Amino acid sequence: MSPTPVTFASPTPPTTYTWEATNVEVALRYGVRLDQVVRFDLNTSPAPPNLALEILARGDFDTPLSEYPQSDYRRLVDAAAARYGVEPDELLVGAGADEILDLIGKAFLPSGAVAVVPTPTYAMYRVITEQRGATVAAVPRLGAADGWALDLPATREAVREADVLWLCSPNNPTALAEPPGTVDALLDDLAADAAVEGRTPPVVALDEAYAEFVGRSLVDLRHRYPRLVVVRTASKAYALAGLRVGFAVARPETIAEIAPYRPPGSVATPSVAVVTEALSDPTVLDGNLVRVERERDRLAAGLRDAGWVVGPSVTNFLLADFGTAERAGRTAEGLLRRGLVPRTFAADHSLAAYLRLTVRDTADNDRLVEAAQQIAQGTAP
Ligand SMILES: Cc1ncc(COP(=O)(O)O)c(C=O)c1O
Repeated sequence: MSPTPVTFASPTPPTTYTWEATNVEVALRYGVRLDQVVRFDLNTSPAPPNLALEILARGDFDTPLSEYPQSDYRRLVDAAAARYGVEPDELLVGAGADEILDLIGKAFLPSGAVAVVPTPTYAMYRVITEQRGATVAAVPRLGAADGWALDLPATREAVREADVLWLCSPNNPTALAEPPGTVDALLDDLAADAAVEGRTPPVVALDEAYAEFVGRSLVDLRHRYPRLVVVRTASKAYALAGLRVGFAVARPETIAEIAPYRPPGSVATPSVAVVTEALSDPTVLDGNLVRVERERDRLAAGLRDAGWVVGPSVTNFLLADFGTAERAGRTAEGLLRRGLVPRTFAADHSLAAYLRLTVRDTADNDRLVEAAQQIAQGTAP
């Protein structure tokens, strides 16, 4: 028997996103030099910024910086369409995947609506749902031993009452993708249930922020399930988080439902120029993927040698299990004293006993492994 999903009334005020301490806060609180603070909490990919710097130095943008960006971001849309294998009218540009998620909320979650969130997952699905005055139905995923996969029967059941299903594959923070065929089967079931009950199938927002790391996307499922919206970003595998560029990919009629909520010119002209080039030049992406995979294996092995229980990962981050929230908290504190910022989870979170760590470059990862060894041996920083 699958557990019954937990439905929460939307609180007032809604749940907010919480950040780890800023670099300056860490430096002041722990007495470390500001340039020694390293962020392992944000799932970014440090990479040589050569391409971006060259384009910014050239400054040959589509429009002068004194003007607004072109309203249709045409060259960026064409580059993204070619990269993702879709038509330009199946794409919408936003200021990062986060703006796209927000637009999905605005388009499909009126006050009083219900959104299903398989947990644990990216915190913004709950935040956005509650900001719309809609209700979250949280469906626990299967556990670590089952690869944190979706509980398919429970998810399917919960979605009967829902307007939106938020999916994330590979999933943040569990670092694994849904097993092949799972999302396909779920979408078929949702379409069949809706047909039997004579209602419109729910919108399925499938966040593929980390898709490049597994080398496959489920974007083709939009033909089978027209209410599918796939979310992509330049922040992770393209290593361009600071530029804030993300995309919705969906059938034209679904894009047309989201587009009215798009603000004018939220993506800056330099961001448009750099991401257009990055999407068109696969060597940048390929280099990052090779580097992340190599460093991920090295970092995971080093942390395991230091006694950490690190789960498998197909992404650019690792999830480590410390058994108790108290031990996770002590380890986080030990890392912070050394200027290393992990992603922590609140005491009432199902992952309170875990820390999430970004795979960074060799030097940063070596510092993390050394810190893990020192903490295990009780050596002071
Ligand atoms: C699953 C997921 N979706 C979206 C985002 C936000 O991406 P962006 O930088 O494109 O807004 C993140 C960032 O951590 C994420 O983990």
